Amino acid sequence: MNLPDLQKAKIRTSDKVEYKENDLVSSDRFLGKKYFLRTYGCQMNEHDSEQMKGTLEFLGMSSTDDLDMADVIILNTCAIRENAHDKVFGYLGRIKHLKKIKPEIIVAIGGCMSQEPRITKELLDRHPYVNIVFGTHNIHELGTMLLEANSKKQDVQVYSVEGEVRENVLYKRDSNISAWVNIIYGCDKFCTYCIVPYTRGKERSRKIEEIVKEVEDLKARGYMEVTLLGQNVNAYGNDFKDGTEFSDLLEKVAQTNIPRIRFVTSHPWNFTDKMIDIIAKYENVMPYIHLPIQSGSSRILKLMGRRYTKEEYIELFQKMKEKIPGVAITTDIIVGFPGETNDDFEETLEIVETCQFDGAYTFIFSPRVGTPASLMEDSTLLTVKETRLQKLNERVNYYSKLNNEKLVGTTVPVLILGVSEKDSSKVYGYTDTMKLVNVVASHDTIGTIIPVLIQDAKSFSLDGVFQK
Ligand code: 5AD
Ligand code: SF4
Repeated sequence: MNLPDLQKAKIRTSDKVEYKENDLVSSDRFLGKKYFLRTYGCQMNEHDSEQMKGTLEFLGMSSTDDLDMADVIILNTCAIRENAHDKVFGYLGRIKHLKKIKPEIIVAIGGCMSQEPRITKELLDRHPYVNIVFGTHNIHELGTMLLEANSKKQDVQVYSVEGEVRENVLYKRDSNISAWVNIIYGCDKFCTYCIVPYTRGKERSRKIEEIVKEVEDLKARGYMEVTLLGQNVNAYGNDFKDGTEFSDLLEKVAQTNIPRIRFVTSHPWNFTDKMIDIIAKYENVMPYIHLPIQSGSSRILKLMGRRYTKEEYIELFQKMKEKIPGVAITTDIIVGFPGETNDDFEETLEIVETCQFDGAYTFIFSPRVGTPASLMEDSTLLTVKETRLQKLNERVNYYSKLNNEKLVGTTVPVLILGVSEKDSSKVYGYTDTMKLVNVVASHDTIGTIIPVLIQDAKSFSLDGVFQK
């Protein structure tokens, strides 16, 4: 294999990304070529991948799911937990073999892992055949980097300081029914376990008019649903310093009359009564809130830097349940945070009993280099943490199933998104409370909201039939 010319590697890691309009020129270098793109991590990354696909298709490429067929391989990485990191390194092993047979392919790594100089260095040391490393602040430069790429060289362009918010971004969306819409980038919360504020930069909100314009355009193109995206959507507008808050945006988006509006992720600390009122007021704002609690122990919450106590969370939770009819609330929980005792963990189990969440994503604490929590003393054995996780999952799954069972025998509106993965004679979609339903209905229902009689409930999905 020809090793890349490392001497000539272009490495820029510290300067601020420039805002340039229309910086992508058209070229036929990649016309008719295939790209393979793998996305790891959160919805923000999924949506960033849609931007990458927009660029790749602008250059004349089409996608392939077959790695062996690819001319360009892109991994959009995640840094939140160790296993996301391991998966990327594992994948690179496969790509290495391919590059031996097809040295002309271009391999590019983007996403949150790229934002960390230590990881980029490790990556280039262990995988010198990687050609392009780009970060979360310069996805718009991917096209130019590709056009300048040489399969035997490396080009690393990662910016530690975020630039201005970019508008008029080219997206190739995965769905023509439900769309992600960025409303705020970055996070200023600095929860002590979390790498996101370091990889995604400061909070930067898009202007209300730009967001509303995008939603109106999506609606005109037949989209039925938008999900407003941010690491912390409730911090929306804080950076304008003029009193604008998320509820102002949500109300304007609701007034576009797009049939369904969702938003993720919400931080309990920033959730105002006005936000609750707007969610309750507009029928097209879905009664579903993802509200990470992270721990049920106020002592651990303090160590996590979450800015609320267990009691304050419960108070907010109950207010939401009271004011928003039929609201479903899901959460994120971390077990095994440094110093978490059995008593702290019991408090987490208790809060699951109290709140009876509709669902929860549960994680074992994973130390992220550069975060305060990675330096905290942690003497709990991994086996203990695994047992805690298992216990927690049992409780969480019990309540998701219980909440799902409450719907059996009722008829609920479901937005149908596509053909069921397991059974092509069925379609699948989501209730307004974000519950996945497999439905006996014809494929013509895809893209519409239909009444569905729920017949059966599991922990993670429902079964139903179209009530014509
Ligand atoms: N270890 C474990 N879980 C984490 N999360 C974020 N950082 C870590 C970490 N270092 C979880 C949180 C967050 C979700 C997206 O990922 O629960 O809400
Ligand atoms: Fe991470 Fe906390 Fe910001 Fe969420 S709010 S992205 S957990 S720092």
